Amino acid sequence: MKLLEPWKLALIVLAVVLFLALVIGLLVYFLLFDEMYFYSGTFTVTNVQYNPSMEKKTSKEFKDLSTKVETLMTRTFQASILNKKYIKSHVVHLNPDARGVAVEVVLMFHFSSNDNREALWERVNSILRRRLQTNTGYLEIDPSTFKLAGMKMENGVNLLNNSCGLRISKLNSFTDRISGGMSAQDGEWPWQTSLQLSGIHRCGATLISDTWLVTAAHCFRGQKNPREWTASFGTVVRPPKMRRFIRNIIVHEKYSDNNADHDYDVAVVQLSAPIEFTNDIRMVCLPEAFYVFPHNTTCFVTGWGALSFDGPSINNLQQAEVKIIDTNICNREEVYNGLITPGMVCAGYLEGKVDACQGDSGGPLVTADRRGIWYLVGIVSWGDECAKRNKPGVYTRVTYYRDWIAAKTGI
Ligand code: ARG
Repeated sequence: MKLLEPWKLALIVLAVVLFLALVIGLLVYFLLFDEMYFYSGTFTVTNVQYNPSMEKKTSKEFKDLSTKVETLMTRTFQASILNKKYIKSHVVHLNPDARGVAVEVVLMFHFSSNDNREALWERVNSILRRRLQTNTGYLEIDPSTFKLAGMKMENGVNLLNNSCGLRISKLNSFTDRISGGMSAQDGEWPWQTSLQLSGIHRCGATLISDTWLVTAAHCFRGQKNPREWTASFGTVVRPPKMRRFIRNIIVHEKYSDNNADHDYDVAVVQLSAPIEFTNDIRMVCLPEAFYVFPHNTTCFVTGWGALSFDGPSINNLQQAEVKIIDTNICNREEVYNGLITPGMVCAGYLEGKVDACQGDSGGPLVTADRRGIWYLVGIVSWGDECAKRNKPGVYTRVTYYRDWIAAKTGI
């Protein structure tokens, strides 16, 4: 074989070096010098009547109007010169207005340090103003009510941190891929909590406010003393991003340790001191009691539990994509033969292979709505071993216990 001529070799090396430099340059540009800018836009929608339930962010009325507004914003900016800079929009308030509903929406943009602040405000403002003046289709907006204000980065971040079910890490676009049984990235499942007995991971739990967690009742079997438990946050158990002592453990009154039927497998846990929300630690949304997650809904289950039945817990948070299985199917003779009660929901695959396992108990089963907001569907409860054919994971159905959770925590 003939060796490459030296000048050809040099050319190839040069090309590779140039390519690497370009890739590194782009990465540095996007990861380090990228900033987020927040704007607060307000305007009145005149073809929707204000409804008092719009005060509640999880109500159907709030979600319906917010979806429309956010879709309008996204379409507008994606069709504009700012399409590369636009991240997302999030409706934060719907207020009563004499002529309809006053909307407050937060808009998020990526801007690099060499962009000019004023010029960008002008651009965002003129794009939106123009859009609101033309017919918006299903939303009628009074353009004279439109105002756009710059928001301090800190205020924008705080606002998002204090909304449930959002994950707005800078890495979102890179980590928003879907697959089963893989390690989670920082900030991907910010509500995931590890409950530890004498410092050892025992169960998962989910942050539902700055002081309350929900988890499974069976985690506290024979160990109900709050002083022996701690909660840790972040994607690795060791070292955790944050820790809290436990003030109070409230197990469902009707749960019994001796019961083999797994009913009422729900508990709420109060932290000793409130959590400060960050990009990596924040709460999930609780669905309203009437909400029904349909058969086949794509969900994610996360936890530090075993990778296979009887295996040890692991340090890196894992995630798996599972689908909701209809209770009638899950109750079939070859599946769980009638053991699934209305307070339970099955998720996984009848073929097996992907499932939660020992040590995941108490942890979240979540799904995102059309707005990209994450809701707690279930609490890891039980299963026949793990990932076996015809033996999907069984979860405590959160909507079924929604009122109980509200009665105990006020959330
Ligand atoms: N009960 C188990 C625990 O304490 C979790 C069971 C979940 N099993 C399953 N196959 N999905 O961690």
